[in-house]
Amino acid sequence: MSTRNAHITGWGMAVPDQVLTNDDIAKMVDTTDEWIVSRTGIHERRIANSDQTTASLASEAALRALEVANLHPGDLDMIIVATSSPEYIFPATACVVQDRIGAVKAYAFDLLAACTGFVYGINLASQAIKSNGANNILVIGSETLTRLVNWKDRNTCILFGDGAGAFVLQASEEPGGVLSAVLRSDGSGANLLSVPGGGSPHPASMQTLYDGLHYIQMNGREVFRFATRVMVEATFETVETAQMTMDDIQLLIPHQANQRIIEAAARGLNYPMEQVMVNLDRYGNTSTASIPIATVEAIEQGRLKPGDNTVLVAFGGGLTWGAALIQWTGPLPFQKKVSPRLVRGYARGRSILARLRRRIEGFIWGNG
Ligand code: ACO
Repeated sequence: MSTRNAHITGWGMAVPDQVLTNDDIAKMVDTTDEWIVSRTGIHERRIANSDQTTASLASEAALRALEVANLHPGDLDMIIVATSSPEYIFPATACVVQDRIGAVKAYAFDLLAACTGFVYGINLASQAIKSNGANNILVIGSETLTRLVNWKDRNTCILFGDGAGAFVLQASEEPGGVLSAVLRSDGSGANLLSVPGGGSPHPASMQTLYDGLHYIQMNGREVFRFATRVMVEATFETVETAQMTMDDIQLLIPHQANQRIIEAAARGLNYPMEQVMVNLDRYGNTSTASIPIATVEAIEQGRLKPGDNTVLVAFGGGLTWGAALIQWTGPLPFQKKVSPRLVRGYARGRSILARLRRRIEGFIWGNG
């Protein structure tokens, strides 16, 4: 029997144009550029404008990834959006994306594993492909976390930024692709990083607003300690599972939360910082989007090439953590060029027609 492998064949990112520097934040809360840079490595972050949402950033990153993969949106089987700042509590942001890009055959759902969500999504997609459940899958990490930040809380507002990144995964018998993954969770630490307001125990009310429960709450020191430990453990375990050593890994792409966490992980792994991708200085922590955004920039900078082995490693609220080892390939060979952006134009028309049809049916059959 032939082996099905799950290859990353397309990648794309989308970030807002609006930049918020540390000096800008220093005008809002009691902090300084020097404090933020020395404690986090972050210099600036992107902020979504009022027209941009988690779904719009996700759709743009998705189209770019489909263009790289040269894949028609109608050929997608599944769309996973990993996010902690979804368009709605429900329906899923992934369904909004499905409609916008015209992925007429795809089933779509959101995945909530905080900043580890993208790595969870890669593993799910890879398993679906390997078990013959799907051929073409879009995994997106997209966030507008700055909408959940309390801009009066200097402990959290310095950290986060908005953006989206996407991978296309496709089945192929060629060797390579996702080789191993290790995923974990520990709900006993759920209180260390959360947005409690609007959920089942604390439904939205004047009181939850007054108490600020709709904002990100974080115990920074505890998260820091947890992160440095699990990044090392998960990376070692996934490399070992693939029967490799760190010498076989050309590039490490960690979740972009804090320069000091990344440096501590590199030290723990005894791995050179020159082979670690870091771009949090320009984007801050974009949660689920940070790994795909860092990957796209690594490719653009020539730091990740076909044949290279890379480990994606993340941690986040939940608590969750995990890593995936990928042998990088690139787009599958194709015969005819497709235009995902053209399909998006048709998708808009189809979506309007579908709504109109529901209205007419409601008018004919009545709404009761
Ligand atoms: N400017 C100036 N001073 C500040 C600021 C600020 N922006 N923020 C905190 N401080 C103060 C604190 O009040 C504290 O003062 P105190 O000692 O008088 O109480 C002092 O600085 C030191 O605070 P610490 O919390 O010890 O600072 P630390 O060095 O740990 O850095 C930080 C804080 C940057 C938040 C760090 O703990 C961190 O990065 N933790 C991990 C957070 C993280 O990665 N979260 C995202 C997880 S991913 C996800 O799922 C979304």
